[in-house]
Amino acid sequence: MAENNQNAVAGSAPAKQNPVVTKGGVYKPPVERADPNPYKDSRVTQVGAWFQERFAVVIPVIDYLKKKEVPKHRLSFWYYFGGLGLFFFMVQIVTGLLLMQYYKPTTADAFASFVFLQKEVSFGWLVRQVHAWSANLMVLMVFVHMFSSFFMKSYRKPRELMWLTGSVLFVLTLGFGFTGYLLPWNEIAFFATQVGTEVPKVAPGGAFIVNILRGGEEVTGETLTRMFSVHVVLLPGLLLLLLSAHLLLVQILGTSAPIGYKETGRIKGYEKFFPTFLAKDAIGWLIGFGLILYLAVFFPGPIGIEANPLAPAPMGIKPEWYFWAQFLMLKDFSFPNGELIAIFVITLGAGFWFFVPFLDRRASQEQKSPIFTIIGLLYLAGLVINTYRVFAEYGW
Ligand code: HEM
Repeated sequence: MAENNQNAVAGSAPAKQNPVVTKGGVYKPPVERADPNPYKDSRVTQVGAWFQERFAVVIPVIDYLKKKEVPKHRLSFWYYFGGLGLFFFMVQIVTGLLLMQYYKPTTADAFASFVFLQKEVSFGWLVRQVHAWSANLMVLMVFVHMFSSFFMKSYRKPRELMWLTGSVLFVLTLGFGFTGYLLPWNEIAFFATQVGTEVPKVAPGGAFIVNILRGGEEVTGETLTRMFSVHVVLLPGLLLLLLSAHLLLVQILGTSAPIGYKETGRIKGYEKFFPTFLAKDAIGWLIGFGLILYLAVFFPGPIGIEANPLAPAPMGIKPEWYFWAQFLMLKDFSFPNGELIAIFVITLGAGFWFFVPFLDRRASQEQKSPIFTIIGLLYLAGLVINTYRVFAEYGW
């Protein structure tokens, strides 16, 4: 049997060390076979050993993950929301792939393909409704996860990159909602996209952005193709890339505890991430799965009526609920140059939010930063109040 030596040839005497750097300074990876069972663990099966021999380089990483622990305290509950967002995203991938088997992204066929899916395809209605409900829940979970991370100041040193990758993930998640809304090509989707894609027009150079978003001056079949390709190719690709970085950082840096919790003895112990925390995550995912099935069956969304670009816009056009707060702000600022000011304020607010790990210096020194807590509360109150105002005025 080979010795516990990465450069040993399995089944023979240990090989001599390979030079890692050649004379010219070029790195050369070791060429000998790795030990299939470096820790001489009697529980490793033949299949396990086969993989270990090939992926020897990641064994230390797996060892590290096995040691990862999650702190237990009265706010631990909030640690589950990132995982729930991840679960609903996985549901989106699976149901989205199924929907794509029937969906046709052209103005002539899009609506009809939705009707066909909803009425003719076995369980097509269920897949469509699950996709729609899971999208809403994913956005909701990401909102909760972002605000709970903010209030626990999880963005503080050394987790700045977790916050930054998370912020981009948040924008991508909203992007999914925006681009997916037009795909059924029904009346509401059509006019809401017309309103939504018009917003940049008031800003300098905005007409160019509108043109990019729409693929022309108006919302047409070009817009539909554009939204479809962004929804099914660009956004999933970017999200997977960012998510890999986000989750890798979670594993490397571990889960943070709120400021002062360790020092004041408020940590009630630690639990292993693998398998204890992951098993609890799985319970949350099962509850989430039950919830989307329940909502899909008992509260199915309508298909609406087919979009007619020549018809006048119906009353009460509004975007999806997660854009209501910004939508209302644009309406509230309906004085000369008001929309431009609203866009400026929203951009400034988003910029502040994005760079918060570098602005909250006190938190990075493990000191309480109540001003940032108050700012977070103001953001949250603004969002909730404006969202509620739209609900009160327009209904669901
Ligand atoms: C698609 C969206 C997202 C997914 C799937 C996701 C997933 C996760 C998961 C699974 C964790 C580890 C468990 C937890 O703390 O909940 C985590 C941690 C974290 N996430 Fe996200 N996340 C997303 C978006 C965001 C956003 C929008 C932000 C903030 C702007 C953010 C900031 C963080 C931070 C700071 C942590 C570290 C928490 C700690 O160490 O205490 N994430 N994320």
